[in-house]
Amino acid sequence: MSDKPKFYLTTPIYYTNGLPHIGHTYSTIVCDTIRRYKRMRGYDVVMTTGTDEHGVNVERSAKKAGVPESEFVAKMAAEWRALWDELGVQGDEFIRTTDLKHAHTVQWLFKQCRDNGFVYPGHYTGQYCIYDNAYVDVKPGENCPDCGRPTETVTEANFYFKLSAFQKPLLDWYAKHPDFIQPEARRNEVLSFVEGGLRDLSITRTSVRWGIPVPGEEPHVFYVWFDALTAYLSAVGGPQYEKTGYWPADLHLVGKEIIRFHAVYWPAFLMAAGLRLPKQVWAHGWLLMDSAKMSKSLGNVVRPRPIVHVLGMDALRYYLLRETVFGQDGNFSYDALVQRYNSDLANGLGNLASRTAAMIDKNSGGKIPKPSALQPQDTALATKAQEAIGEVLEQYDKLGFSLALEEIWSLIAATDKYLTTEHPWSLGESEADQQRRATILWTTAEVLRIATALTHPVLPESTTKVWSLLGQPGQPGSIALDGLRWGQLASGTALGKSQALFPRIEKAEAIERMEAMENEAQKQPSPVTALATPSAPAAGGAATAATPAAAEKIGIEDFAKVEMRVGQIQTAERIVGADKLLKLTVDIGTEIRQICAGIAQYYEPEKLIGRKVAVVVNLAPRKLRGVESNGMIVAATVGPEGRPVLAGFPDEDVEIGARLK
Ligand code: MSP
Repeated sequence: MSDKPKFYLTTPIYYTNGLPHIGHTYSTIVCDTIRRYKRMRGYDVVMTTGTDEHGVNVERSAKKAGVPESEFVAKMAAEWRALWDELGVQGDEFIRTTDLKHAHTVQWLFKQCRDNGFVYPGHYTGQYCIYDNAYVDVKPGENCPDCGRPTETVTEANFYFKLSAFQKPLLDWYAKHPDFIQPEARRNEVLSFVEGGLRDLSITRTSVRWGIPVPGEEPHVFYVWFDALTAYLSAVGGPQYEKTGYWPADLHLVGKEIIRFHAVYWPAFLMAAGLRLPKQVWAHGWLLMDSAKMSKSLGNVVRPRPIVHVLGMDALRYYLLRETVFGQDGNFSYDALVQRYNSDLANGLGNLASRTAAMIDKNSGGKIPKPSALQPQDTALATKAQEAIGEVLEQYDKLGFSLALEEIWSLIAATDKYLTTEHPWSLGESEADQQRRATILWTTAEVLRIATALTHPVLPESTTKVWSLLGQPGQPGSIALDGLRWGQLASGTALGKSQALFPRIEKAEAIERMEAMENEAQKQPSPVTALATPSAPAAGGAATAATPAAAEKIGIEDFAKVEMRVGQIQTAERIVGADKLLKLTVDIGTEIRQICAGIAQYYEPEKLIGRKVAVVVNLAPRKLRGVESNGMIVAATVGPEGRPVLAGFPDEDVEIGARLK
């Protein structure tokens, strides 16, 4: 085990029913910056990120894509992961809530809470939309706000967590740890929420199927937030967290809308289980687009890939951290992004690096020159750089990224000015002039080295190039920031190869290219629809390569796509004007479904009540004679007239909802 101090930080784990936009990217990039910074301060850092893969929304998205949930989430998790790689994000742990080790941790945490007397069984009553499979916040008799169809009053068995018992312990904790919730505005918001009283929280569901089962209590599955928050623990050893030594977390970094889950529910779960609490929860603001929170449902999202493609990943990272004061909301604009790129990166850091290298190349044979007698303007710049080190580290420690970058760029601007006033290019070839030029160029290169080290957590890709351009050994990520001082640049070091850093780009052209890519991407099938495509029959009904012919063999994975469950018929009635159809309601364990079946000529409706049948539950809903059918009852077709005989379970008392495999 390393003897360095440990630092464990987390991003939120992202929902997999959609793809990342730059709002999500923001949470992750901030975390990655902190991770790199802490490493450079000598910490043994672990950063966790991952995907939140359970719940009704995933059920619904997978159904829409026509694939099993497991396949759907695997594909989406891979997309998220790939994007973080492209953005230079170095997560140490990528946790998926469908990982087995995570399920064990959730079940273990629940058991701890239950054994300690903080869990009890109860019931939840609410308005349920059977079409959307979700509770909705309306009164009895009102329609679903999402789809407009009637809701039903449903009472569901749940396990409750005694959150009410934690009001005082939480308030005491906040009082003893004034930095636990940051920034101040969020802390006040949480305090007044908790002071207002806490109601017990339902932490299991029986109306949802796609979740981690509660052992011995099936069909209960865990409520998504009880499940998701626990990911922070499962990533670092779960029940064996003591062995890894990373718990408690030092920092949970989250968006402001999920502060309550992290600063109230999560510490309460941990207290109930007898575990230590994270040291800090930091809530950042939102990236807004046209003054609204960027979100898929509003259709105002900006994706990171076009930006990375046109301007590079460092440009996006720089813009996100420089433009918005951390903790506050910030507006995204392509215009400001390209503006920052050109002024700060191309004309600022990029230009300083390339002109310094070019001058050293020309005047001192590509080797860092040796400084001699210093003049006050050299010392003034040296003092500014030395002070910048202290101030930048202080800002990084406070997560004041924009101020830290402002400080570094003020040093770059001062160096540009220094070059202009000292104009080494107009010095002659006399001994004195050569010495003076060597001093100026060494001073400039030394500022560049310091600025590179300080900027590395934000600009990992380009600072690595500048570092090797300056002929420095190793990677900038392995610099110990605590030992960074003015004057350490060794004379005589040979410069490395010059590499393109931030080529200037015309604003209108850059924006046009990014927007064109964004539009193109929107036309491409998303991974969700791409998943659905192979099984969709070709127009006109002809069999295609993707639709196996009757005699063709299929793999087990194809069979696994069909989800069949034991259902019990609750009601059955004839449909006026459709003499072959019966309208049934069928309990499939997690919900009641309306299903139409073409059995009316052979089965009396009243004799079907209570009968257990095999139901295909993951068929896309469709209308039969104007009546919605959400599933299919399995039957054999017998005799020349094709008489349906229902598949059933006459000899065994099978559980409703059991899966047929
Ligand atoms: N799955 C939950 C988190 C569970 S953590 C145990 C979730 N997921 S999310 O995908 O909706 O959001 C993840 C993070 O992205 C949150 O921190 C959220 O604030 C951030 N953002 C999503 N849109 C955002 C913006 N427009 N701007 C900034 N960040 C926002 O919540």
